[in-house]
Amino acid sequence: MANPKVTVVGAGFVGATTAQRLVEKDIADVVLIDVVEGLPQGKALDMMESATVEGFRMRITGTNNYADTKNSDVIVITAGLARKPGMSRDDLLAKNAEIVGGIVDQCVKYSPRAVIIIVTNPLDAMTYLAWKKSGFPANRVFGMAGVLDSARYGYFLSEELLCAAGDVEAVVFGGHGDDMVPVPQFTKVKGRPVTELLPAEVIEKINQRTRDGGAEIVALLKTGSAYYAPSASVVKMVKAVVQNTGDIMPCCVYMNGEYGLKDVYCGVPARLGFEGVLEIPVWQLTEKQQKELAASAAHVQENCSKLKL
Ligand code: 2OP
Repeated sequence: MANPKVTVVGAGFVGATTAQRLVEKDIADVVLIDVVEGLPQGKALDMMESATVEGFRMRITGTNNYADTKNSDVIVITAGLARKPGMSRDDLLAKNAEIVGGIVDQCVKYSPRAVIIIVTNPLDAMTYLAWKKSGFPANRVFGMAGVLDSARYGYFLSEELLCAAGDVEAVVFGGHGDDMVPVPQFTKVKGRPVTELLPAEVIEKINQRTRDGGAEIVALLKTGSAYYAPSASVVKMVKAVVQNTGDIMPCCVYMNGEYGLKDVYCGVPARLGFEGVLEIPVWQLTEKQQKELAASAAHVQENCSKLKL
């Protein structure tokens, strides 16, 4: 059987690191594509030259030509402007909509059966736009953010609990913005909810640090945004799709009545496999969390209405 084929659009830090993780973990052959001539080719060649040292078998090619992305199983779109200090993700809306819209048209032409994963910000609105532009069924278009936000939440909690970050299974609902909704009762350390392990005010502080997690990195880096944790999160999702694992993880998915939300993309746990989103199981939120989720979704809808799709 042929190796899975994954196209990563955008050879910046998020795209290149995603590509690197995908080949180094032998998850898929990768096509790295960017508008800048030489950039994806140079990074791909550099990565292939590490293959004998790292011992991976998958191949990565760099290109500026969408014809090379033909018949991809998964397309990851990372291209677009990144935040600068003081900017919100929403500030990127108009410019990135133009970029993502053009990319989706090209990708769909060459890979009509692919699953599309959006990483470009503002994430939830870009995912809605990609779904509309692609004409794909909603289960084949979704966004990466819940895995990242949950990863940050889990790490911050592990620092407080003095446990290994990998022992925390964290869950964050909502859009990838300032109004995301960390859900401590479903966030567990070796099976025990953190609500039993930490006082409410400590959890609330960590919830807020999680909401500000992206901005904390932007403020430190000054010239760009995070990419190690974002790329690791994308790769977890791609792996679930190409290996048809059926794993459940928070993703930005199309809501068709679940949690009382309709015709909006928002972050909730979803089961992933070959067909993309296989199922959206509905978990019991508190009344407050349900309200926060609705507010977060309303914010996404407001952004989407500015796109006039
Ligand atoms: C982040 O949260 C850039 O949105 C991305 O780091």
